[in-house]
This record gives sequence, structure tokens and C-alpha cells, in this order.
Amino acid sequence: MNVRITGTGSALPGKILTNAELEQLIDTTDEWITTRTGIKERRIAADGEYTSTFAAEAARRALAMAGIQPEELDLIILGTVTPDFPFPSTACIVQDLLGATNATAFDLSAACSGFIFGLSIAEKYIRTGAARKVLVIGAEILSRIVDWEDRNTCVLFGDGAGAVILEGSEGDHSLLSTHTFSNGEYWNLLYQQGSGSRNPATDSRTLDERRIYLAMAGNDVFKHAVRGMEEAAVKALDANGLTSSDISLMIPHQANRRIIDATAKRLGVDSDRVFVNLHHYGNTSSASIPIALDEANRQGTLKPANKILLVAFGGGFTYGSALIDW
Ligand code: UT7
Repeated sequence: MNVRITGTGSALPGKILTNAELEQLIDTTDEWITTRTGIKERRIAADGEYTSTFAAEAARRALAMAGIQPEELDLIILGTVTPDFPFPSTACIVQDLLGATNATAFDLSAACSGFIFGLSIAEKYIRTGAARKVLVIGAEILSRIVDWEDRNTCVLFGDGAGAVILEGSEGDHSLLSTHTFSNGEYWNLLYQQGSGSRNPATDSRTLDERRIYLAMAGNDVFKHAVRGMEEAAVKALDANGLTSSDISLMIPHQANRRIIDATAKRLGVDSDRVFVNLHHYGNTSSASIPIALDEANRQGTLKPANKILLVAFGGGFTYGSALIDW
């Protein structure tokens, strides 16, 4: 059984926060943010908007494109590090919002690689016959876990969601492979310090000592990100007997323009075959690849039989790739 992407969707908050506006809030400049990251603006969720809000909307758009009803879904996997609640899973809330009454639903924690890890699990469910129609979502509201007094991190992240529908298929055009990797040795280079069992939200010190927020050793993460994305991409190419010249479009995790350029250069993929939209959205973690995939799809950039390479890297560390014969 092959696995085909039959629908894509994305949803973003309406509110745009520009670098110029950040200049008014913290000690930073548009010039620093642009040259160090490539980011110009990001979307920020409003009061009353949650991770499930955007996840469900992205899912509705993907379902509409696939032409299937929510009740037909067998499985919902949602990658996120910013769930609505620690429990129940945001996937269960999305199931309820969609009316996907026949689906099993769960969240997956693999930070910025969450969408690729989700694809990998969905692929296996479908190939083994355990599911026929699967919804995979990456959704985040990172603006609620960044420290808005820390210029090292708060300029980098944004909110949003992307989703795909995967279905079993006998046809040729399909998901060719997924590869996932973890390196727990570096878990504390990128993590949210508070609200879990180590620094519980119920302990006043967690807030007082600003341990509730996302923390990142940016420079170290940068180096590992380039190496990890290269390794995951090479694994995908080798597994399919392809070289980088066969790739029509690479859609990398959108964390930093310099990470994307360095990875593409190492792989020998020219910049015109690399999809970049982080200037609009910043780093949306697990949502970045499915948002980009949906944009590329709706722009008509993806043509039948194109080889599309997705590659991600994130906290954990986690990293991975997916190769699609569109
Ligand atoms: O999503 C998956 C994983 N995440 C990533 O892949 C992110 C990986 N890391 C990065 O993208 C980059 O490391 C950053 C964009 C976070 C930082 O870029 P960098 O070139 O590594 O800068 P740096 O951390 O070495 O900082 C350079 C300087 C520092 O000043 P000093 O100590 O050299 O005087 C910072 O204080 O830039 C300063 N700085 C800022 N200045 C103005 C840090 N943030 C800002 C800011 N505005 N927002």
C-alpha cells in the first residue's frame, strides 16, 4: 500500500508583529533580526485563540482539498510543544472541533520535527493497514512560551498551524520515505524549562525565576541544525537512490535563513529549489513545514512527479526527513 498526500491546509493568526514593532518593545533592530535570521515579521495569536483553533482550521482546509468528511478519518496526529493543556491532548480537542468521531487522536512531542515524526507514524499506520485516512497536523502558539524580555529568543518565533491528509493509494505518486532521528544528549540546549514536573507551574519560583519560558543556546543549536538536516536529507536521498539534483523542491524547517542556506549549500540544492517563507512567519516549530507545503501546493509550485524533500530539526534534539513523489 502506498501513502499519498491528498490535501494540505494551513491557518495563521491575523495579527502581524513586525521587526519595526519589536524595536519599540525590546533592545533590537530590524537590521539585526533580518541579517541574523531572515525574519521580517511573525503572526501572533489573539486572546481567545488557542493551538486547537488554528489546528482545526488548517485541518478543515486540508479535508476540503482532499474531499473527505471528518468522520472518515481513522487517525489524528498533532505535533506540538504548545498544546492547549498539558492534558488532554490537543488532538482530542481538534477531533471534537472537527467532529471526527471515528478517529484515534493523540499529540506528539518532537518540537520542530513534530510534523515529520507525525508523517512517519502516519505512513506506518497506513502501510500496515491499521488506518486508511490520517490527518497530521503541526500547530503552535509559541508566543505564549517565549520570554518577551529575552531578545535572544522572542524575535525568532511565531504562531500558526499546517495540516495534511494522508490516504492509502495504489498509485505511483506517494510518500516515498520518512526518516527520524533523536539525540537526547543535547536535550537542554533547547527546551521549555517550566510547567512540567521539574519546575511545575504550581511552584511560584517557576514564574518568579522566569523558568516558565523557552530557553535556547542559539549558537550551539545552529551548528547541530545544519549537520542534522544534512544527515536526514542525505538519508532520504540514499534510501531512494536519488541525488540532490533530482530534488524539485526542498522544504526545510523555517528557523533561520542562514541555517537553510548552509544546509542547501552542503546538499548542493540551488536556492531557487528551496522554499522559504520565514520572513513572513518566523519559526513556527512543528507548523513551519506543513504551512510551507500548503503554500507551495496552493501556489501551484508542486507538479506531478516532482520530488519534494522535507527536512526538519528541533529540540530534543530531534530531526528527520520525508521524500515525496508528488
Ligand atoms: O527551531 C529549531 C531550532 N532553532 C534554531 O535552529 C535556531 C538556531 N539558532 C539561531 O538561529 C541563531 O543562533 C540565533 C538567530 C538565535 C542567534 O544568531 P547568532 O548569530 O548565533 O548570534 P549570537 O547568539 O552569537 O549573538 C550575537 C550577538 C550577541 O551580542 P554579543 O554578546 O556578541 O555582544 C547577542 O546579545 O547578538 C546579540 N543579540 C541581539 N542583538 C539585537 C541577540 N539577540 C539579539 C536581538 N537584537 N534580537
